[in-house]
Amino acid sequence: MALQGRGRLSQVEMHPSPSRKRYLSLYFRNVLLNTPLSLVLDLRLASGRYLEYVAALDLVGTLNSSDWILDVGCGHSLLPSIISERCGVVALDIAPQSVRWQAKKAQQKRLLEPTWGDAAHLPFADNTFSGVVSISAIEHMPEDLDTLASKEMWRVLRPGGVCVVTTTFSANKYAVQEDWNTHMPLLLSLLGRRFWSRAFKFLPVDRREAYYERIYNRRVLNERLIDPVGWKLETALTFEAPLLVRMLHRFFLPPVIAPLECFLAYTLRPSASLDRGEAVILKLVKSLR
Ligand SMILES: C[S@@+](CC[C@H](N)C(=O)[O-])C[C@H]1O[C@@H](n2cnc3c(N)ncnc32)[C@H](O)[C@@H]1O
Repeated sequence: MALQGRGRLSQVEMHPSPSRKRYLSLYFRNVLLNTPLSLVLDLRLASGRYLEYVAALDLVGTLNSSDWILDVGCGHSLLPSIISERCGVVALDIAPQSVRWQAKKAQQKRLLEPTWGDAAHLPFADNTFSGVVSISAIEHMPEDLDTLASKEMWRVLRPGGVCVVTTTFSANKYAVQEDWNTHMPLLLSLLGRRFWSRAFKFLPVDRREAYYERIYNRRVLNERLIDPVGWKLETALTFEAPLLVRMLHRFFLPPVIAPLECFLAYTLRPSASLDRGEAVILKLVKSLR
């Protein structure tokens, strides 16, 4: 059923599809930032991230060098490093190892400030940031933490500012998955839960043994992230991987797939349609009053 109301998911225009020309540049930046090892063992820059990061960088491209951006749930992402070449960026995460990792990258970056914090209680004053980005983080916040995080991102954003949130999406039923081996290649999941509960402590990946992920649908996105907060939803872009890419991720190990991720990104299908897609990029605006 179509939802009514200004700026709600049924009515928004398509986010202009991010330029694919930037994928190759992201690929090489990743190698420079994370050593050539990332070519074979890249657990961070999966194909979907190319699309999501370019969408976030499109927002950054509209800002000035004196502006500050907040990256909520930055993880081990290279996005804060890239943003910091144009303007200031606070890279916030609740996981101390992610903050430590960003701190290492920040050593050569004057405008990158890694910060430990909870998205549901952001340690910043109202209207602090010119822009907010949050890439594939909000779906990992259980209970009502995703709604609180959305409210907090709105609060710390200056009026007229833009927030780019990317998250999981389904055209059909809303779902929550908590299996420890969600998205894990089949062969690796055979190693078992006990092995991975130890291994995750040492690996540069942003997941723990207890894995929590919501798959939002249109109704729940409105109910949990948009309506309680007063965002104006400006654009939405869904995307999904073709079956072949999903099979590659399921059956091949990361060192085989990692060098291909950039090229697999070209096969993703961005769409304005909310009747399909496995992830969505939302561009939310805090209205001027
Ligand atoms: C799947 S990772 C995405 C990381 C990164 N944004 C990227 O582009 O790859 C999700 C991140 O959200 C962080 N996170 C989850 N709950 C959080 C919270 N309440 N506050 C801040 N960060 C949170 C996790 O620690 C993790 O680093």
